[in-house]
Amino acid sequence: MQTKCVAKCAQRPSAEVIVIPVWEGTKKGELACDETEYPDVLRFPLDSGDFHGKQGETLLLYLSKGKEKRAILLGLGKQNECTSESLRCAYASAVKGIHSKKLKSANFLLPSLSANVSCKAIFEGVLLTEYSFDQLRGESLKEKKGHGLHNVCFCGVPAKENHLLKQTEIIISAVNFTRDLVNRNADDTDAGTLAKISKDLEKKSNKIKTTVLEKKQLEKLEMGLLLAVGRGAERGPVLIIIEYQGNPQSKDTTAIIGKGITFDTGGLNLKPTGGIETMKCDMAGAAATLGVIQAAVDLGLKTNLLCVLAVAENAIGPASYKPGDVYRSYSGKTVEISNTDAEGRLVLADALSYIQDKYKPSRLIDMATLTGEIVVALGEAATGLFSNDDALVKDLEKAAERTDERLWRMPLYPQYKMLLKSTIADIKNAGPRTASSCSAAIFLEQFIKNTPWAHLDIAGTAYLSDLKPYPYHQTPATGVGVRLLIDFLMHFAGKNS
Ligand code: BES
Ligand code: MN
Ligand code: ZN
Repeated sequence: MQTKCVAKCAQRPSAEVIVIPVWEGTKKGELACDETEYPDVLRFPLDSGDFHGKQGETLLLYLSKGKEKRAILLGLGKQNECTSESLRCAYASAVKGIHSKKLKSANFLLPSLSANVSCKAIFEGVLLTEYSFDQLRGESLKEKKGHGLHNVCFCGVPAKENHLLKQTEIIISAVNFTRDLVNRNADDTDAGTLAKISKDLEKKSNKIKTTVLEKKQLEKLEMGLLLAVGRGAERGPVLIIIEYQGNPQSKDTTAIIGKGITFDTGGLNLKPTGGIETMKCDMAGAAATLGVIQAAVDLGLKTNLLCVLAVAENAIGPASYKPGDVYRSYSGKTVEISNTDAEGRLVLADALSYIQDKYKPSRLIDMATLTGEIVVALGEAATGLFSNDDALVKDLEKAAERTDERLWRMPLYPQYKMLLKSTIADIKNAGPRTASSCSAAIFLEQFIKNTPWAHLDIAGTAYLSDLKPYPYHQTPATGVGVRLLIDFLMHFAGKNS
């Protein structure tokens, strides 16, 4: 897709449709931009009160003259309630309207915005909605579905925000890369594939170095937990470490660790029907980690990153790890397996210990589809945030506010540790259902030594069961975490170094 922006509406090219934003007024809609090239045609739907300008409301009109033959009136909701998220959602409905008419070129007029909202949100709304996933469709459907906009022009972009379009395109293409990885069949994003993608990043930039630790090396390093989870599968496990030196003068490094369970059957504690069907999403943390590194390279971020993918398939077979057995972690702590379905914390524990031990990063952020319980608590509307460091939380929360990839902080009370007491090992991997997202996080904390750490439980936000509340997501995989952490890295990481 070709995109561009122009400052003045008059500079726009011809297109098949022009999208004209409208604020919701008290009695009727009001044009949200100054340019009023089409007052006559627009007046009736607005004046008659037929079109109110409610957020996401659209009306297709046909024009007899001008650079476009069609106009879409787009409701933005009330002007004093306008937020980045309301703009993303409104422009998403315009894009859907354009898709339904199979149009290839569009001019999007921007409203005049107050200082606290940026046109970045509008770029995001359009670009995120433009995503489609057609790899798994039959040829005929692919032809029908596999198109979308070819030419887009944003009109009324202030000169000082011009650079945001290119930047947003880079970030959204990383989000889409992550969405693709998660939407794809589980077997098509196996350990070997994730390792190859990671290795290929080296070709993109000489600031990248990728290390892939295969089973043999993991055995030598005694990563007993990662190995245990991977035992039942034909492929994996692997630990993938991608180093990005964006700021060689600085020692400050942010480690991002993604849970990469390529499929989670639950293991011998097999998941029931109703729970297992979405489990190709269990590598969404690893996929988002890859998205972050891709965007960081393409943006040329001046920060050091250590991106880590803890990859295994939680499969069933004669070699599967067994409930009741005890395994020794890389850290030396022994773990009683009370439930083979609590596998994410096991692979993360070994990854977290090893990364601290070997690389001593300044901070650790893990992303994991870790618990079903976080979906019970927060639904699909927010990621659960657990952390041992208030300053890190503050910075992440600011990034969450800016990107609307919401975070909700959850507690790490010491009492939760009691839920994981084992009678034969140092700790067990799962407790009762009570506070089980919190006990999962407390389990991880047992493997953190004095490093600021944040754990993002993205089980609810990475793979949507209901797309309706999220207009700019049109497939289950959201790519959550990429926009959040890129924003975080752009604003905060290494700010004191
Ligand atoms: N991958 C699942 C968590 C999950 C659930 C992700 C729903 C996405 C959507 C995780 O490995 C898991 O199975 N967790 C168990 C832990 C329990 C056995 C202690 C859970 O949450 O039920
Ligand atoms: Mn599981
Ligand atoms: Zn899992």
